[in-house]
Amino acid sequence: MTELGCAISGWGAALPPTVVTNTNLEKLFDTSDQWIVERSGIRMRRAATGPFVEATPLAHPPGGLGTTSALAVEAGRRALDSAGATADEVALLVLCTTTPDQAIPATSAAVAHALGTGGGAMDLNAACAGFTYGLVTAASMVSAGIGKVLLIGAETMTSVTNWEDRTNAFLFGDGAGAVVLQPVSGPGSLLGWDLGVDGSLVELLYADHGSGMVMKGKEVFRQAVRATVDSATTALRQAKVSADDITLFVPHQANQRIMHAVASRLGIPVERIASVIEWTGNTSAASIPLALIDAADAGRLAAGDLVLLAGFGAGMTWASAVWRWGA
Ligand SMILES: CC(C)(COP(=O)(O)OP(=O)(O)OC[C@H]1O[C@@H](n2cnc3c(N)ncnc32)[C@H](O)[C@@H]1OP(=O)(O)O)[C@@H](O)C(=O)NCCC(=O)NCCS
Repeated sequence: MTELGCAISGWGAALPPTVVTNTNLEKLFDTSDQWIVERSGIRMRRAATGPFVEATPLAHPPGGLGTTSALAVEAGRRALDSAGATADEVALLVLCTTTPDQAIPATSAAVAHALGTGGGAMDLNAACAGFTYGLVTAASMVSAGIGKVLLIGAETMTSVTNWEDRTNAFLFGDGAGAVVLQPVSGPGSLLGWDLGVDGSLVELLYADHGSGMVMKGKEVFRQAVRATVDSATTALRQAKVSADDITLFVPHQANQRIMHAVASRLGIPVERIASVIEWTGNTSAASIPLALIDAADAGRLAAGDLVLLAGFGAGMTWASAVWRWGA
């Protein structure tokens, strides 16, 4: 039997139109642009909901980008177009999100309906590690013969932001990034991976139903660097490659200081980091696809290049993948 691999054949991003700068946040709590930039590298973020959006849209706005599903649909449509694929060719839609539109049903149902995708659809919640969890899951299913998968990371983090908490409200933003995964003959793109979770660390970052996020920032920072370095190292070892072989490092965009600390510990130069955090903030499961897509659109990737994706998030979860571009 011929070996079946998986390749990314198209991608697309979507951001809500409202830009919230650090200076805008000075109206909500005691902070400054300088403090936020120095501590996080974030200058602005996009918001789909919250105090800076004119009117909070209804769950399913006509043509708006005010919900996770709306952002996911827009990114998904662009990814299908760029792959030259039609919606009915999709065998599975995986929506990675920690901010679903509703408790029931899964938001992927609304996204599948709006796009008209074939096959199944499911949500995957591994918080900010979600997209990399989804990539490993979806690539494995493509290799098992399921067909094409539309993999989307989409979030409205502003819907779970406590706008009175200056210690974390500045970190988060909204957006979506999507890729089409399709079968290819041969070994394909997923060369190594690592998935993990430590539920004993739940209290570091959580949001109860109907209330805003609670975060122990300093401890999250420490655990994030440790977990991401360990996880990326495991994935590199499994792929039998070294950090020197990595053309593009796509870390979860949580804090520029975390991204730089992780890259430095792995021995990856800063110039090889894919970064959008300056203008998106932390978009949770959308952050890695948004950074990957930005780098791909900027021509930073050629066929055969090795990409290292590494995310961590609430749970605490972590996930890494070594991916051969254009296989
Ligand atoms: C949140 C984070 C940027 C804070 O940076 P930090 O260097 O740890 O800052 P501290 O929490 O020690 O705060 C330093 C001071 O700034 C103050 N401060 C906090 N938020 C502030 C803000 N928005 N503006 C100005 N000052 C602020 C604090 O009150 C503290 O003052 P104090 O020393 O008088 O008590 C950082 O801890 C972080 O990024 N953690 C990881 C968060 C993350 O990645 N979460 C998502 C995971 S997926």
